[in-house]
Amino acid sequence: MFGNMPELQIGHLRAKTPVIQGGMGVGISLSGLASAVANEGGIGIIAAVGIGMNGGKISGDFSEANAEALRQEIRTARSKTDGLIGVNVMIALTDANRLLEVSVEEEVDVAIMGAGLPLKLPVSIVETGLKNIHTRFIPIVSSGRAAELIFNHWAKKYSHIPDAVIVEGPLAGGHLGFKAAELTQASNTLENLVSDVISAIRPFEQQFQQPIPVIAAGGIYTGSDIYKFLQLGASGVQMATRFVTTHECDADIRFKEMYLDCRESDLRIIDSPVGLPGRAINNPFLESVSAGEKKPFKCPWKCLRTCNFEKVPYCIAKALIFAQKGKFHYGFAFAGSNAWRADKIISVQELMDTLKKEYQCESRTMRLDNVQTQPNFVYDYI
Ligand SMILES: Cc1cc2nc3c(=O)[nH]c(=O)nc-3n(C[C@H](O)[C@H](O)[C@H](O)COP(=O)(O)O)c2cc1C
Repeated sequence: MFGNMPELQIGHLRAKTPVIQGGMGVGISLSGLASAVANEGGIGIIAAVGIGMNGGKISGDFSEANAEALRQEIRTARSKTDGLIGVNVMIALTDANRLLEVSVEEEVDVAIMGAGLPLKLPVSIVETGLKNIHTRFIPIVSSGRAAELIFNHWAKKYSHIPDAVIVEGPLAGGHLGFKAAELTQASNTLENLVSDVISAIRPFEQQFQQPIPVIAAGGIYTGSDIYKFLQLGASGVQMATRFVTTHECDADIRFKEMYLDCRESDLRIIDSPVGLPGRAINNPFLESVSAGEKKPFKCPWKCLRTCNFEKVPYCIAKALIFAQKGKFHYGFAFAGSNAWRADKIISVQELMDTLKKEYQCESRTMRLDNVQTQPNFVYDYI
């Protein structure tokens, strides 16, 4: 039909709807949300970070607890959908490579690699050969320079390049790939970053004779936004914040209500113990940290390579696990800049239908605007 969203093709995979649901840790996007999105033709993503700690156990062999919990979550998602399922692995995690190995063993469709540059892939994956495995690899970048660095490195080291790339701009939720001062720089719009990344990867598309879809993320909220970024040359979008206020989102209802109740002025940038800025909803926990209060904790396992656990004022893994359970006295919610716009909880199906309608409406309006500004235009499609 006229103005329908196009499919998103990544290597041999085809998503009927060009929407990837962004991975949200800890425990915000698990098999429930991911399978619901996959059932609607998008790509559903399970967030791997802290997945083994989510059951409340914070003892024992963490790496294996995470690996096993991820394996089970992928299997649960698979049992609920025949659609496309992926995993989000933060490269800053100490066990990032193990989580990537499990994702490949379980044959997830995509492995999305955020919060760091994925330059060193697990040996077992390299030995099998990137061409011989089902999983497609997608790094998240915040600049053309970062994309070029990753693609150059993979081309030289693996004679292979990532299958797609996600460009995440400064309006996203969670950890952001910018220095705090860069977040407000006028040139750092998602529009500019998308075209920057498209230019950076073009030589690799030619060298490897393969299309590399560019996926836009960060502040995309409506079908009309999706239309805009597809017109700018993106092949799809990644959206996270808008999926939080769905019935299927895996967080406690109090986490979702935090989104429904927040105002635009409640969204703030924090200095995360990960060593990156992050966007979150302000609350007394974050205010007390800003006021210099320390939340003493024992670090049983250094889950983040970049965390200086002896110096940081709180444990971010614990704070996010508490938030997922709705216990905001001990934690806080990450959220994108549009979180304040949600006013009710709906189903993923309703959300995807709304996005499709908004997209159609925007594409029709834009076509009609073109007709009006081009007097000789043939009215063959109305
Ligand atoms: C609650 C929350 C948790 C997130 N957790 C992760 C994560 O674990 N790994 C990651 O790469 N990105 C994470 N993100 C970023 C999203 O995957 C996504 O790229 C980004 O938020 C897109 O912008 P939007 O939320 O405005 O749609 C998170 C975002 C939110 C809102």
